[in-house]
Amino acid sequence: MPNLVVVGAQWGDEGKGKVVDFLARTAQVVVRFQGGPNAGHTVDWRGKKYTFHQVPSGLLHRQTRCVIGCGCVVDPYRLNEELAVLGDGRKDFSRRIIIDRRAHIILPFHKALDRLQDEQLGEKKIGTTGQGIGPAYQDKFARVGIRAGDLLNEDVFNEKLRRNAAAANFRLMEFFKVEPISFKELSTGFWEITRPLVNMIGDGTLFIEKALRAEKRVLFEGAQGTHLDIDLGSYPFVTTSTTVVAGAASGSGISPLWLEEAVGVAKAYTTRVGAGPFPSELDEVQAERLRRLGGEYGATTGRPRRCGWFDAGLVRASVRYNRFSALILTKLDVLDSFEEIKICVGYRYEEKKITEFDPFFAQELEPEFISVPGWRESTRTCRSYKELPLRARRYIDMIAELVNCPVALVSVGSGREEIVPVEKRILRWLR
Ligand code: IMP
Repeated sequence: MPNLVVVGAQWGDEGKGKVVDFLARTAQVVVRFQGGPNAGHTVDWRGKKYTFHQVPSGLLHRQTRCVIGCGCVVDPYRLNEELAVLGDGRKDFSRRIIIDRRAHIILPFHKALDRLQDEQLGEKKIGTTGQGIGPAYQDKFARVGIRAGDLLNEDVFNEKLRRNAAAANFRLMEFFKVEPISFKELSTGFWEITRPLVNMIGDGTLFIEKALRAEKRVLFEGAQGTHLDIDLGSYPFVTTSTTVVAGAASGSGISPLWLEEAVGVAKAYTTRVGAGPFPSELDEVQAERLRRLGGEYGATTGRPRRCGWFDAGLVRASVRYNRFSALILTKLDVLDSFEEIKICVGYRYEEKKITEFDPFFAQELEPEFISVPGWRESTRTCRSYKELPLRARRYIDMIAELVNCPVALVSVGSGREEIVPVEKRILRWLR
């Protein structure tokens, strides 16, 4: 049975929520392997919008078991809220969700530190989502983090919390000159809030391994995108986890040799939230048109997204880092009304031509564009490649050629059925 890794090929917000929801129709297990509530995967189902932050977007399919893997960071407050919204306050998901006991916990002081650390950078700030992601991973790598498994023993939890709260309060008071967080309020309030989650804590790695051995269909759902990866992204304007395919193995706690195929999700244009290089970015007037048509506002923060043309050099680098079997191109319909569409085909750097985005020199890359005529008709009702306007087909084919990767599917709207197969059979998952 195939398993499939889905990751973003740009800077996040590629529409992975909808894609995972589509691919999870035939999944038995769906795993989130990195990040936390910085993600916002929106799924449009029966006229209602569901936004997933920490729970895998496959939860809407009743047959799936969902794992929040060991590579994730979990905010219990936000997770309770998310589950209440997803279940209309009535459903109990505890039999369908496993939180790996190794996943690290986001505490209120992580959120406070995240905001203060970023503000302190002034003009150089990263523009984080303010969800405490960076500081929670800092504690993990400093080997002092509190893990989901620590929520099973109050004494262990309190001991670790006391030590970490003291360290965080020292920084809050001495360095940032703000009020400390009361340990007493924190410990009782936090313990209470985590109780509904306790039944979900278990050994996610073993569960996934067993599912793979039993040849179940396992889908690995990435969050953020390749160029926000802590190692390969446009550092320091990145998130703090491994967002590329390699992270699917370590963040699920399985051998990479289990992974069979990977698909990259890319928007038919490019967006980015937060600061950092963006070679194909449009000026504000043109960006506004894409933003309005594409509804480009952050699902987690509501921030307007920066917008630009499709950057083939950026996605080409993603294809290399991830060895994608195919791409899924989303939001093609957003380009329906454009008379002219541009594609960034490469860059100039110190008089030299380069074809692949290089995060090290990213600020100095000068984009080179080609222009193609728009198709100027709606693609939203198209359900086969043949039904797409000829110019839209050419656009898709050109992207596949430029990035050295076939396009398996194209999404032409936010609804579940608004998907067009292009070279669907390339993916074993879809056969
Ligand atoms: P953090 O992940 O909150 O630390 O933010 C670090 C950077 O990653 C910022 O530029 C964020 O805007 C960006 N980022 C984090 N999560 C997402 C996401 O889900 N989509 C797009 N950008 C994200």
